[in-house]
Amino acid sequence: MKIGNLILENNIFLAPMAGVTDKTFRIICREMGAGLVFSEMVSSKGLYYGDNNTDELTDIDLRERPTALQIFGSDPNIMAEVVKKYINPRNDIDILDINMGCPAPKIVKNGDGSALLKNPPLARNILREIVKVSKKPVTLKIRMGWDPNSINGLDIAKIAEDEGIAALTVHGRTRDMFYSGEADWDFIKSIKESIDIPVIGNGDIFEPIDAIKMMDYTGCDGVAIGRGAMGNPWIFKRIGFLMEGKDDYKPTPEEKINMAIKHLNMICSIKGEKVGVREMRKHIAWYLKGMTNSNVVKNVINTISNKDDMEEVLSKYLIDMNAFKTK
Ligand SMILES: Cc1cc2nc3c(=O)[nH]c(=O)nc-3n(C[C@H](O)[C@H](O)[C@H](O)COP(=O)(O)O)c2cc1C
Repeated sequence: MKIGNLILENNIFLAPMAGVTDKTFRIICREMGAGLVFSEMVSSKGLYYGDNNTDELTDIDLRERPTALQIFGSDPNIMAEVVKKYINPRNDIDILDINMGCPAPKIVKNGDGSALLKNPPLARNILREIVKVSKKPVTLKIRMGWDPNSINGLDIAKIAEDEGIAALTVHGRTRDMFYSGEADWDFIKSIKESIDIPVIGNGDIFEPIDAIKMMDYTGCDGVAIGRGAMGNPWIFKRIGFLMEGKDDYKPTPEEKINMAIKHLNMICSIKGEKVGVREMRKHIAWYLKGMTNSNVVKNVINTISNKDDMEEVLSKYLIDMNAFKTK
């Protein structure tokens, strides 16, 4: 699949997730076969005013590329300035993605994220000003609309095409659904049928077969996986297997624990031990979900604040797992 001039290895992508798709997880997902990874959303105002925490959010590693950096905001001038001063000079950013989907109250109250779906003229202006100055392909991520009375994702999709957006990710939910209910794949299909730029379908791919079904059903050019990749980076490789007609495989408990240990070491080396260990708690809970006695292990993990102890608990769990197997 191609986005702008960029040729991607495949069309199965890691969706942007604040608090999840940091550099470490993006590296892991690329190693596990994701064709493109999206960063956590970054505030355009934060970048504009030189906010310290944007440095970490925008840090990109060679191993994860190609990488799409996602920004949010609603001031076309600030966003265009950020593109000129900050995004264009960065050789490690492959794609610039614009967020018009985030439903979080603290984002929409400023008119950012999915609030822009309610204001098509402003959405157009933002895209126009950004595309005018961007030296990278610009992509856009949207939802169906704000609520059931305002399903205008199609208008926004047409605006995106008009304004030179290189690809559009469509999450088949309205803002007021947040992450509840079912993603509407018919909506993704109708967008795909109505515009000529690549459409990336998004919503409710939890099993490898779901990706194939979404592409078959909607005709979308690629898919982006969010929650289905949490603690489950194997999903990318497994979808690749299915697409190549190979047999599916499930990661073993040993593979999951070993991945958690690798993730722990990598995140601590990138973010430092204090932050790494704290952030790892949720990842470990996702990796161990559904495994024998995992609740006990998770409770212990949540009390630990240093890396060696956390690794020891996981290693011990691995030994216990092998013991269960041989019983
Ligand atoms: C914890 C979390 C954080 C998210 N952060 C972002 C974000 O920063 N930018 C964005 O465009 N979407 C964000 N999303 C939405 C996802 O990219 C995706 O659209 C949504 O989860 C639906 O896809 P899924 O069913 O595969 O999870 C987030 C979702 C979750 C669960």
